[in-house]
Amino acid sequence: MTATPLPLTIKSDGTPITELIASRRAEFRAALVEHGAVLFRGFEVGGVDGFDQVVRALSGAPLTYTERSSPRSTIKGQVYTSTDYPPDEEIFLHNENSYQAAWPLTLYFYCITPPTTLGATPLADVRRVYEEIDPAVREEFARRRWMVVRNFHPDFGTPWQHVFNTDDRDEIEAYGEKNGIRIDWIGKNGMRTTSVRDAIHYRPGSDVPRWFNHATFFHVSTLAKDLQEGLLAMFGEEGLPTNTYYGDGGQIPADVMDHLRSAYRAASTRFDYHRDDVLVVDNMTAAHAREPFTGPRKIAVAMAEPYTPNTQQEK
Ligand SMILES: [Fe+2]
Repeated sequence: MTATPLPLTIKSDGTPITELIASRRAEFRAALVEHGAVLFRGFEVGGVDGFDQVVRALSGAPLTYTERSSPRSTIKGQVYTSTDYPPDEEIFLHNENSYQAAWPLTLYFYCITPPTTLGATPLADVRRVYEEIDPAVREEFARRRWMVVRNFHPDFGTPWQHVFNTDDRDEIEAYGEKNGIRIDWIGKNGMRTTSVRDAIHYRPGSDVPRWFNHATFFHVSTLAKDLQEGLLAMFGEEGLPTNTYYGDGGQIPADVMDHLRSAYRAASTRFDYHRDDVLVVDNMTAAHAREPFTGPRKIAVAMAEPYTPNTQQEK
């Protein structure tokens, strides 16, 4: 496929950002789908309120963050901090909520305070990630799908009550039933969720396949070595906070995991954040990550345009 810049950068010409979006909205939305991401640079965004206006101008109302996999704090309304995760750790490339039955089509990142070093949001075109993966590996995932198992332990990590925004077990079971998540209650206050999803998806309106799943992100071997060892010693494989398998429960071999990580990295690009950058990501075209960083980095995040795939909408 032909290379398109990722992201496409739109530089300020002095027009207020929401005015510019209002007058060129169709063009920006088409560019977002084609390139996978658009970076608005050099605008006076006007803080979190101005950022919220940008989301509304381009996408409509931002979404509430549900079925959480990472710690985030609310800044205001539906604007959140990017993941509150130790600065020295990388967050691997992923498409937001690809382990769920539904996900946002559009993501927004707003640079309130740039980091001192690194701390970029690397991007990878998942059409290209798909192309980078050995056809035999793709075929196996197409046939067997992929499974994510998440364990929520009392007093460790994000509690399930927080993930599902309720402590009502019946409500969670009903949610699981509706969204293709098996719920198992473990011991006194633990919980395990299991979901099987497709590894390859098509963006609405496109017949170009995308590698769109959390099989790599959630696999134990993608974590830093010392973290892998610590978690395995503490919980055993069965109790890992997250791990992935083929959809039939079979182990994904280590060489396949290495190959998948290499495919993502081969497609990955990065840029350094400037203050007031607004990065808009097409979630079904580009995966995003977070580099480790030093300094005060403050990035706000919003999500918009919920999408539920079904056999009618997807090929
Ligand atoms: Fe993310």
